[in-house]
Amino acid sequence: MAKIVLAMATTHGPQLHTTVEQWQLRVKADKAGKHPFRGKVYSFDELVALRKDEGLDTKSSMDAQRGYRARCDVGMEVLADKWDEVKPDIAVILGNDQNEIYETEQLNPPFMVFCGDKIPNYMQSEEKRAQLPPGIAEAEHGHATETYTEYQSVPELAQHITNTLMDRDFDVTVSKVWPKAARNGASHAFGHIYRQVMRDNVVPNVPIYQNTFFPPNQPKPSRSYEFGRIVKQAIDSWPSDKRVAVFASGGMSHFVIDEQFDRSFVDALGRKDKTALTSIPLSILQSGTSELKSWISLAGLLEDVDAKMHEIDYVPCYRSPAGTGTANGFYWWDLRD
Ligand SMILES: [Fe+2]
Repeated sequence: MAKIVLAMATTHGPQLHTTVEQWQLRVKADKAGKHPFRGKVYSFDELVALRKDEGLDTKSSMDAQRGYRARCDVGMEVLADKWDEVKPDIAVILGNDQNEIYETEQLNPPFMVFCGDKIPNYMQSEEKRAQLPPGIAEAEHGHATETYTEYQSVPELAQHITNTLMDRDFDVTVSKVWPKAARNGASHAFGHIYRQVMRDNVVPNVPIYQNTFFPPNQPKPSRSYEFGRIVKQAIDSWPSDKRVAVFASGGMSHFVIDEQFDRSFVDALGRKDKTALTSIPLSILQSGTSELKSWISLAGLLEDVDAKMHEIDYVPCYRSPAGTGTANGFYWWDLRD
């Protein structure tokens, strides 16, 4: 049977692929929008007032930002080196879409297992890039390839995962072709793994999409957890000698950083606290922070695995005194006996 040899959880946001000067482009959007934070929604100025005692002026100084950026580079390198060392044959990647392969208004499945043969990767057209919010197009190289590229999927495993989920009364969407309306190839949650962790030496893999982000059909954390548990049963029962890696891609708190929340989340993840992870209210798991549901699925997947979580780094990349930005983190579990 197939064997899981490695698990990794990593953030994947644009700040990992842009300079601190380019981070400032996002501050413009931060000021224009309203942002979920600890169950409520605030304007930029309201966040500055609310968080005035947290020292965010200093924590978002340009010097501090350069420090965060350097630590993230090291974190990504260490994660990629670990990948190189373990050399899994194939991967199963838990991630999400942000209006990249699905037009949210048109179709947005809660869970989708890609069962096709090939996964494309390519940049968006200039026309589509022009529609992106500030500071996003600048990061595209971090997950999208300049020229059209195709990666091999693992349709037999994808089909087996689907069958196992359906057998356990977990109805999922499948796609055997890349969605025709896709504005680019693999969504950034997946492209980040291909480019930054696998360093473009992409092994055959199964992309599994979860709608963490967009109401009204976001799965609850308990559902995300159960999903991961069943995916593990599927991998374990797949008749193959492949050594498998599993990934959770997304998070951590953003677009408003909440270190306290991230720390308690990671703590629960490390000690396999199912109750804590599955009782996080949906009001907290909104916007970019919602992507941690892919990590909750990974927690379900690792429920009965006896492997220790390793933290490479946790870096709260503040870009403004309102506490906006993305908290980045890099984690792995070695499951080789
Ligand atoms: Fe994302």
